[in-house]
Amino acid sequence: MSMTEAELERVQKTGIKGVRNTFTLPVPNGWFGVAQSDEIGPGEVCNKHYFGQDLVVYRTESGVPHVLAAYCAHLGAHLGVGPGAQLSREPGPGRVSGDCIACPFHGWRYDGTGRCVEIPYSEGRIPENARVRGFPAIEKNGLILAWHHLESKPPAWDLPDLPEFADPDWVGPIYTDRYIDTSLQDVTENDQDTVHFLYVHGTETIPEQETRFEGRTRYTVGPRRDGGTFSRETLQLGYGVLRVPDSVAFVYASSPVDEEHTHQRWVFAYPRSIGDEAGREIIDAFSKSGIYHDIPIWNHKVYKDRPLLVQGDGRIMEYRRWARQFYTLPEGSDTAEG
Ligand code: FES
Ligand SMILES: [Fe+2]
Repeated sequence: MSMTEAELERVQKTGIKGVRNTFTLPVPNGWFGVAQSDEIGPGEVCNKHYFGQDLVVYRTESGVPHVLAAYCAHLGAHLGVGPGAQLSREPGPGRVSGDCIACPFHGWRYDGTGRCVEIPYSEGRIPENARVRGFPAIEKNGLILAWHHLESKPPAWDLPDLPEFADPDWVGPIYTDRYIDTSLQDVTENDQDTVHFLYVHGTETIPEQETRFEGRTRYTVGPRRDGGTFSRETLQLGYGVLRVPDSVAFVYASSPVDEEHTHQRWVFAYPRSIGDEAGREIIDAFSKSGIYHDIPIWNHKVYKDRPLLVQGDGRIMEYRRWARQFYTLPEGSDTAEG
């Protein structure tokens, strides 16, 4: 296959062509961030791409968020791309109509589950299959999240509202985000890979963390460079909360753009009492120095289904076994068992 322009540019710049499509698992199941709460006002539509597909995220006039697959069942128009301004060829936004999104091409109206509830110009019956895939959506801790299940099964768990985001004594939500050229599972494997802190992040020693895997949840307590500790509660693959007592709480929400690409959002809150300057410094410490050095490694690595692990490597395979519960895999598959 010939290279895209972006790939060619990358080869010329870095001398690395890279090997793509090395991740062996599908898009995982769970709640994944698809938009910041402040990105979409009532009656607005946003176009997004997650789970390997084009999506529309819209808010009803009364403020409820919905997430639908983007392409109309009728003649395939994108629900979030309307005509632009008069005498312009530039696209305009999608259109919300009450609790529905209205297709810009012929006006079919879809409700928040993806069912077509009105074909305004037709007196005939609405066909049974006049629907697009709807993704259950919730709004928590500053993000709109959609439930993705490979076989479209309904949500199997909920996520909590974190007290810091509702507390007037805390400042937030404050957003940071980044795109990463590797799978969601690879990105969060970093937490269990304690050795890399020495080489990538320049810690003096390999940090000693305590981790407990318990069903869907993974608890970690670990040291901070300033001598304090942090606690991390991962509530599913790609979503959880990290807390440093009296200092910061942040939601880490990583979403699969597709099998091999991840959009990572971290949503911060800090206690008003520490002041904005200290709050900003803590956020920068996590979201810049805490992660920038990981990115080149992630963007250029391949996935080793059976990595060559040695004594001292930490609990990487245990993490992968824990992660396996978030995938729908073909019967009899032994992928990711290692
Ligand atoms: S393509 Fe959507 S209504 Fe015709
Ligand atoms: Fe890291």
